[in-house]
Amino acid sequence: MTEQIQPVRGMNDVLPEEMAIWQAIETSARELLSGYGYREIRVPVVERTELFRRAIGEHTDVVAKEMYTFVDQGGESLTLRPEGTAGVMRAILSNGMLRGQRHKLWCAGPMFRHERPQKGRYRQFHQISVEAVGFGGPDIDVELIALCARLWRRLGLQRVRLEINSLGTAESRRLYRDRLVEYLRAHRDQLDADSQRRLDGNPLRVLDSKNPQMRALIDAAPVLTEHLDAESREHFQAVCRALEALGIPFRVNPRLVRGLDYYSRTVFEWITDALGAQDAVCSGGRYDGLIAQLGGEPTPGIGFAMGLERLVALLTQSGPIAAPAAVDVYIVTSGPRAEAFGLEMVERLRDALPNRRFELNLGGGNFKTQFRRADRSGALLAVILGDDELERGVAALKPLRRETGQSESPLSALAAAIDTALAAAAAQT
Ligand code: HAM
Repeated sequence: MTEQIQPVRGMNDVLPEEMAIWQAIETSARELLSGYGYREIRVPVVERTELFRRAIGEHTDVVAKEMYTFVDQGGESLTLRPEGTAGVMRAILSNGMLRGQRHKLWCAGPMFRHERPQKGRYRQFHQISVEAVGFGGPDIDVELIALCARLWRRLGLQRVRLEINSLGTAESRRLYRDRLVEYLRAHRDQLDADSQRRLDGNPLRVLDSKNPQMRALIDAAPVLTEHLDAESREHFQAVCRALEALGIPFRVNPRLVRGLDYYSRTVFEWITDALGAQDAVCSGGRYDGLIAQLGGEPTPGIGFAMGLERLVALLTQSGPIAAPAAVDVYIVTSGPRAEAFGLEMVERLRDALPNRRFELNLGGGNFKTQFRRADRSGALLAVILGDDELERGVAALKPLRRETGQSESPLSALAAAIDTALAAAAAQT
């Protein structure tokens, strides 16, 4: 036998039986985002590599190690998007959308990072990315966080908690960075290999180290929040006060620095203790300098992205979501004339009942086979059409989820009879 082709490591299929939970999340998110005034935008999965270099930062893990970059036939360096924000900002600029206007946008789809795959960490994963551009005050920070909290409530998501921090302005972060580098250099011998490497390019990420042997050193390091400029401190305090007023619990984590360079001021993560090491289900923050960095008018921005695989895993743990049946009606045919007429009849039924879902038995089969297929389809009702029924101008209706009640309907009134039978069957389940 010919050898089968293997899937790409870290890239998953989402199977039909898993879709109910994905769709529950996506539908709730879409409804909620629209209720907060966000509009969907779709941008390409591939962008010029330069975009991510400039937006995310040369020294981040994402850009330095994890991008799927290739040179296309035209000799251009392109990259599969590792995250959504850069592409959305590029689109805002390319389409001249800014011009003093504010935008609330969301964008969903697959992202690609060449990370070491493990539970909750994949090479293709999906985000819903939410961006608010042109809003400088702390109110939008709070509203975005409240939006997340409301989504978790709607989904019945438990075991997520909020951590927030402020990174200050680019200027105050530079000052802090110098202090931190000075401190880390003084303790260079205690740094692990990863942190030594980060020390030169991205020293703030040293604070993110998960290595327990680095714990004491990190705990004693200078704290970013103590080096904030006055305006950033005020902004952060206003965010904290408003979260308290809304009754949204949070913890200030002065070590939360995030892995992408475009952040400034407020950053936050929704963390769970139910998924192991990959504990962030949703994260984001302010990126007030990003648009200018990409060549636009200086414009503040803030956003977040949720990782759908992680939300799906969390929701799956808290119990199954009932998958809707694939169809409402399964049409069983018997005899050559009925089989031929079936195609025509089901198209007419689809015209008459556009909101009902029909599956016509295809490829023949005896009654037993056809009823087994009908059962698997999840349909509530079978419509049976044999040559002798056709002769008499009728079809039989058989409810599939209870024993009783086969009936007949003239073909001319079949659509109405199906509608009534489905309503009755739904009322009983
Ligand atoms: P991020 O923290 O890199 O931020 O990713 C956001 C979320 O995507 C994470 O919290 C996590 O749930 C999920 N995620 C990230 N990497 C993986 C992976 N390898 N496998 C599975 N899930 C993953 C951003 O991407 C920013 N663009 C968020 C943002 C939007 N900030 C402002 N606006």
